[in-house]
Amino acid sequence: MEAKCLSGKETAKQLTQRIQQRVHSFASRENRVPKLAVILVGDDPASAVYVRSKHKLSSKIGIDFELHTLPDTISQKELLEIIRTLNDDSRCDAILVQLPLPPHIDSNTVLLAIDPIKDVDCFHPENIGRLWTKTGVIAPCTPAGIMELLRSYNIPIEGKHAIVIGRSNIVGKPMAALLLHVNATITIAHSKTKNLSNLCRTADILVAAIGKPAFVTSDFIKPGAVVIDVGMNRIDSVDADSCWFQPESPIKDSLEQKGHALIGDVHPNDVRSVASWYTPVPGGVGPMTVAMLMENTVSLAEYRNRRQ
Ligand code: GUN
Repeated sequence: MEAKCLSGKETAKQLTQRIQQRVHSFASRENRVPKLAVILVGDDPASAVYVRSKHKLSSKIGIDFELHTLPDTISQKELLEIIRTLNDDSRCDAILVQLPLPPHIDSNTVLLAIDPIKDVDCFHPENIGRLWTKTGVIAPCTPAGIMELLRSYNIPIEGKHAIVIGRSNIVGKPMAALLLHVNATITIAHSKTKNLSNLCRTADILVAAIGKPAFVTSDFIKPGAVVIDVGMNRIDSVDADSCWFQPESPIKDSLEQKGHALIGDVHPNDVRSVASWYTPVPGGVGPMTVAMLMENTVSLAEYRNRRQ
């Protein structure tokens, strides 16, 4: 039987409506809307695309979006100064520094400079500690979006074996924490894991966050597993014999029309024939991540207000 689609696009739409209502109530209580400040350094094309989608959704929801576009020649000191100004801005609820940063800037130093109460990515060590101890207000956007997607489709998690491939601070590690909190048994696999495909075939829930196009093939997937694809790999061409797409595939259309296409970490054909549920790329995890950034912004605004 063909696997069913976990539509991030549809779920994000519903989530967006709920966030909009929270923004309305916040605005009528506080006489202002929540404000998200985003710092974009340099001209990484993928980052520019992500920031544009964040801007678009903020405008739709009615969140004040303050964009700081900075040249990649900016010094670390100047960048830290901008963060300090935003920390002190009483109207700014949430700060996001788009990663990656240019090599002359130390990401850890920059992320540490963000006031934890405004750390909308939940990347500050204080917030990571709060995440693992369940004492925080928010969770990192991508894993939180995935949890919301699983919840909205009533996917059972308790007692299941969940394998997360990838151990990044942005996705792999916080994903493991959130799955653990709802009583999954967790394995984090990575590039040095032995017999990766055999191990992954023991997963009831498989989360792929590796950054390699179509890396997870049918031999990684237990029949009936739930497969979450975090990958967003841009490709400019595809081998004629790679069979990544069906004849009427959007990947093929995109390649022909735009000259590039997005491919997940999971083989798009294989997953449909083996899994029970899967997230498409695009239209799966991506829209959930952006919607969750909006939710985190509102949660931080509400939390800061309650504390004042
Ligand atoms: N770059 C890729 N993903 C992310 C993210 O979730 N947050 C930030 N700040 N930068 C990113």
